[in-house]
Amino acid sequence: MSAAQQAAVTADGPPIPLHLAIIMDGNGRWAAARGLPRALGHKAGAEAVKRTVEAAGELGIPWLTLFAFSSENWRRPPDEVRDLTGLLRHYLRHEVQTLVERGARLRIIGDRHAFGAETAAEILRAEDLTAGNTRINVNVALSYGGRAEIAEAARAIARRVAEGTLSPDAIDETTVARHMQTAGIPDPDLLIRTSGEQRISNFLLWQCAYAELVFQDVLWPDFTAEHLAAAVAEFGRRERRYGARVG
Ligand code: IPE
Ligand code: IPE
Ligand code: MG
Repeated sequence: MSAAQQAAVTADGPPIPLHLAIIMDGNGRWAAARGLPRALGHKAGAEAVKRTVEAAGELGIPWLTLFAFSSENWRRPPDEVRDLTGLLRHYLRHEVQTLVERGARLRIIGDRHAFGAETAAEILRAEDLTAGNTRINVNVALSYGGRAEIAEAARAIARRVAEGTLSPDAIDETTVARHMQTAGIPDPDLLIRTSGEQRISNFLLWQCAYAELVFQDVLWPDFTAEHLAAAVAEFGRRERRYGARVG
């Protein structure tokens, strides 16, 4: 059995994902529908993150990766970028204790340095404070882009070849996986995107090779434990084949 085929934990009932990834989309539309500024949509989205960490922990999902800010989101108007980075700093300063209480270990993937040295230091502090937690691993993707991650891995591998510590012929999928920011983390089994959009938007391109995709019509700030349970139930009904013939 391949690593991918093992990648679901079975409780008593149908399988649940070992690693759930979520593209948290629809904050802006949620705010617009209420005549509110987009910033309040992002704030409500951050509350949905807290609910989801708790709900995923309750379901026994050990790995959760949340797409919070893409490398392309820097293209948004400066005031929206400011609102988003301000919210990030607020949560790093005031909500890490909640993660500690929930037994969640925080890791950031993406380019933390893009947010400045002070925020990068606060990210490191938050990661350190939660490093001993084992109930659920929460990865948050910040200034993250799947293609940028693959390009960075290629550079790192090329450096090792240039140094003479790695032969080009020895480079295989395991080598590449080890140079991704998710090294050591199982690939996502289930990818949820909210808001009704049906695209990947440059998220975990390498890692989601065999993820089951679930698109839900809910806007992210309205996402609840029930939406999560519905997506996990849908995952449980999927037949995963990994290219093999069945029957
Ligand atoms: C997701 O909500 C949050 C981020 C991408 C930062 P959006 O801000 O993309 O919301 P919509 O898609 O405009 O509704
Ligand atoms: C993807 O959402 C990024 C995050 C959820 C952080 P976007 O709203 O940025 O994606 P597009 O622009 O609709 O593809
Ligand atoms: Mg969007």
